[in-house]
Amino acid sequence: MKILFIGDIVGKPGRQICVRAVRPLRAEENLDLVVANAENIAGGSGLTPEIHHELIAAGIDGITMGDHVYKRREIFPLLQTEKRIVRPANYPSSAPGKDHMILRTRQHVPVAVFALQGRVFMPPVDCPFQAAERVLAALPPEVRVILVDFHAEATSDKQLMGRLLDGRVSAVLGTHTHVPTADECILPGGTAFQCDVGMTGPHDSILGRRLDRVKETVLTFRPTHYEVATRDVRINGSIVDIDPETGKAAAIRRIVIDEKKAEELAKN
Ligand SMILES: [Fe+2]
Ligand SMILES: [Fe+2]
Repeated sequence: MKILFIGDIVGKPGRQICVRAVRPLRAEENLDLVVANAENIAGGSGLTPEIHHELIAAGIDGITMGDHVYKRREIFPLLQTEKRIVRPANYPSSAPGKDHMILRTRQHVPVAVFALQGRVFMPPVDCPFQAAERVLAALPPEVRVILVDFHAEATSDKQLMGRLLDGRVSAVLGTHTHVPTADECILPGGTAFQCDVGMTGPHDSILGRRLDRVKETVLTFRPTHYEVATRDVRINGSIVDIDPETGKAAAIRRIVIDEKKAEELAKN
């Protein structure tokens, strides 16, 4: 089976290219499941219930969130009730949202998905390695296919997570840096790994934000609004090929869907 994991969707441009391209991409690539990190989708930060519904309607099966999960308060009730969204699992249990979700493909294969947040250059959270163990221990034994979104800054932590979970989950894929890494591989135990799958949004930018705004604030310390950029919109993600019987990954491939390719897909 094939799962596409889409990297941090940023703002309206990121949302629009997903709405246009995900359904035809599902058909073209024969995808069984699509999961996306959408922590930056509402104006660059957070997610609203309306946008969540729009993404599900666009052919995305489940949403992972990262450190921006609580930027829009209107998402709190949905985080509690909706089955197709998770917050990072290493938040306190009192924090709104679920620590894992079990999605199902059309062939009724259960797929567990959870997210973890890193602790380097990020707000302090519980140990992501211990949280991974806790979530794995709680999963029903019939769930063989497991996708982990490690939302973190440090590539060393991401590599360690991949190694610690190797052979026990189908994929450990990173998000948060908004820059795709060229290290995708299958680890010795059969876990697909990549430090970061990248960013879905305007790439003529600084991590999706307007260059002029970031430049002004960083160089002069004058605060500006880091508005979402507009040009060179791309989907970044990776497709993992998984044996549904064993949960082991056989292959991982990076994809980039630019505006031209999205237009072609939408025509078909
Ligand atoms: Fe992000
Ligand atoms: Fe993030």
